[in-house]
Amino acid sequence: MEKVAVVTGTSSGIGFETAVALARNGYYTYATMRDTTKSDKINKIAKKENLKIHVLELDVDDENSAKTAIKQILDQKQRIDVLVNNAGWALWGCVEDVSVDEFKTQFETNFFSIIRLIQEVGPTMRKQNSGTIINISSVVGRIGFPASPAYISSKFALEGLSESLRFELAPMQLAKKSELDSVYRDITVKVVSGVKMMAEMGTNPKVVADTIVKAIADKKPLPRYIVGNDASMFLEAKKNKSDIEFENYLKKELYGE
Ligand SMILES: NC(=O)c1ccc[n+]([C@@H]2O[C@H](COP(=O)([O-])OP(=O)(O)OC[C@H]3O[C@@H](n4cnc5c(N)ncnc54)[C@H](OP(=O)(O)O)[C@@H]3O)[C@@H](O)[C@H]2O)c1
Repeated sequence: MEKVAVVTGTSSGIGFETAVALARNGYYTYATMRDTTKSDKINKIAKKENLKIHVLELDVDDENSAKTAIKQILDQKQRIDVLVNNAGWALWGCVEDVSVDEFKTQFETNFFSIIRLIQEVGPTMRKQNSGTIINISSVVGRIGFPASPAYISSKFALEGLSESLRFELAPMQLAKKSELDSVYRDITVKVVSGVKMMAEMGTNPKVVADTIVKAIADKKPLPRYIVGNDASMFLEAKKNKSDIEFENYLKKELYGE
């Protein structure tokens, strides 16, 4: 069966190369871009190498554009196997130099648009019982530094979204069988009860307050103050384990799997 891939932001850079690479690997590839007048280069390669690349307009900031593009793909192909959320840009400027509206604009492309697209393709992938979503983050999704806080925090947010999503999508098959309101009901119930149990044994808020007071008084304040055995335990585990080991550890700690 022909596999279908969708890549956002393919007018240049990583998105362009990804769309070409997927097509070379046999995917029918929707190379989406907000300005299709930038499609000459990709169309030329597609023609020269006889690649199945279909350029489609998609401005990820625009809800209608996203809905229309995904609908068109599903009308044509009835499936989506791969979604690469690549479109993104970086806003430079320190926190006090960048307005909240500018922060929101940055988050619109680098974060909210990705939620929108995942929500658009999610039902199809669940129906297929298969699918891969790749979110292009950055090393600055794990490390902060000055002069681009809007970009950095949008990538940190994306890291959180991606980590959550991996858990939510993993038990897809199990959840699908239930006839409950949401296919995510089982996982939500398990995680909420796991977190509640941890909270019952959690740290007294007074300890947090004391730490804040100490932090304020510190002559050389640390970048981060970790409060509570649970937080220390998770962060220590994250530091010492591989990504997969940590994921399995979290599953066990959160809902005993
Ligand atoms: N290059 C790096 O070193 C690096 C490192 C870490 C992470 N990344 C991430 O990798 C991704 C791609 O970056 P790149 O380096 O390949 O940069 P790039 O060459 O500037 O490509 C960015 C792409 O995103 C598109 N785009 C921006 N806003 C859009 C919107 N609203 N709707 C649709 N497309 C939109 C751009 O389209 P237009 O041509 O229309 O502007 C362009 O095609 C980004 O998410 C970036 O944060 C890059």
